[in-house]
Amino acid sequence: VPERATRVRDLIADVPNFPSPGVLFKDITPLLADAEGLADVVEAFTRLALADGVDVVAGMEARGFLLGAPVAHALGLGFLPLRKAGKLPPPTHSVSYDLEYGSAAIELRAGTLTPGARVLIIDDVLATGGTAAAAAELVEQCGGVVSGLAFLIELEALHGRDRLQGHNVDTLLRVDTPSGP
Ligand code: PRP
Ligand code: MG
Repeated sequence: VPERATRVRDLIADVPNFPSPGVLFKDITPLLADAEGLADVVEAFTRLALADGVDVVAGMEARGFLLGAPVAHALGLGFLPLRKAGKLPPPTHSVSYDLEYGSAAIELRAGTLTPGARVLIIDDVLATGGTAAAAAELVEQCGGVVSGLAFLIELEALHGRDRLQGHNVDTLLRVDTPSGP
């Protein structure tokens, strides 16, 4: 619904030079605070999930939790938190990925993902795609099947989609200005 898409877009604040100079930060906190805006986004993600056939929803720490958990609940499904390294007790599965400076890792608690389950991965922003590619790899390493990856915002200038080839990728809003996560 175009009118809803416009309202959602208007509830995302552009913050220049945050968290570092030259980056245009997409702040979703006004959207999360708005009852209708949050409901519209959850409903849009829910429709994607129903189309793809999903058994469980996963989201990346931290902002992927804010959208993924309500979507899981709306679908009557469970939620898998893909956590930043060191937050979960062992045993965990872990995938490392490169950042602009250094590297990071995301982890899933062993035993929480049923082998063969179809997993919808949700996050707020697709930027370089590094986080999302690691999330998909982690799900597959744990025996899951990635049914799709869905994002609220795609920063097209960073070509993150290219790192997710072979996967269903859906984005609710596309932005073509150069930007950061
Ligand atoms: C942001 C954003 C995405 C990721 C996108 O998370 O929420 O998860 O960057 O960037 P990429 O496509 O280049 O990997 P970030 O790790 O900054 O922090 P968060 O804990 O606030 O989600
Ligand atoms: Mg994030």
